[in-house]
Amino acid sequence: MSITPPKAPLRLGVNIDHVATVRNARGGAYPDPLRAAKLAEAAGADGITAHLREDRRHISDADIEALVAGLSVPLNFEMAATEEMQAIALRHKPHAVCIVPEKREERTTEGGLEVAKDENRLAHFIAPLREAGSRVSIFIAADSAQIEAASRIGAQVIELHTGAYCDAHAEGDFAARDAELARLTEMATYADSLGLEVHAGHGLTFDTVAPVAALPEVVELNIGHFIIAEAIFMGLEPAIAQMRALMEAARSG
Ligand code: PXP
Repeated sequence: MSITPPKAPLRLGVNIDHVATVRNARGGAYPDPLRAAKLAEAAGADGITAHLREDRRHISDADIEALVAGLSVPLNFEMAATEEMQAIALRHKPHAVCIVPEKREERTTEGGLEVAKDENRLAHFIAPLREAGSRVSIFIAADSAQIEAASRIGAQVIELHTGAYCDAHAEGDFAARDAELARLTEMATYADSLGLEVHAGHGLTFDTVAPVAALPEVVELNIGHFIIAEAIFMGLEPAIAQMRALMEAARSG
């Protein structure tokens, strides 16, 4: 009789970018992203994720300063691989840095980073961030060439982009959804075999989180837009508690 080893605990990083989006729709000071982050902490978030975009469309430099000073849980600082962002990360030394691709015209981070095409530059880019003590994560598609490149440049973590899986679910194309999930499953195992820590995120909802949470190699999910959207109807703490409960149920099932 074979005994299945227990799965590693699964952390939830709550992305608070869209609290800042609502604030910036009017200008002014509310809703305050730090207040949302503290509520998320109280509701059981293991970390807070914030993306300082080059165009500052949601999170601002002052928000990052307030989060660094005010959070009790780790900050996962998402950023593009630019000199400006590197300098900001080196100044704040967040617990984790997640390198994402960024296009000004996009509404959200559309795809994963093309690590394989930019290996040399990225290796030099992340080295000082690691030396400063931040865990470096690379946001990539579930693709073996990207995973191998992320490993070669010295990233400790990869975050697998779950957007295609979630989009296929939302469109009702369940064959495509299941194919995307199979790809995520295979690539999570592959990345883990190379010694990379595996995270996942983008577009996850109450309906799509369970199969990703059940992947044994995935140890962190980063979820933002749906939680903040759901908070309008049920409140932030219940939305986080429900997401956590779904994650835990999938993990132990
Ligand atoms: N992970 C990364 C790297 C992201 O860029 C984002 C979106 O900012 C997320 C997770 C969260 O995605 P969503 O807001 O769709 O849950």
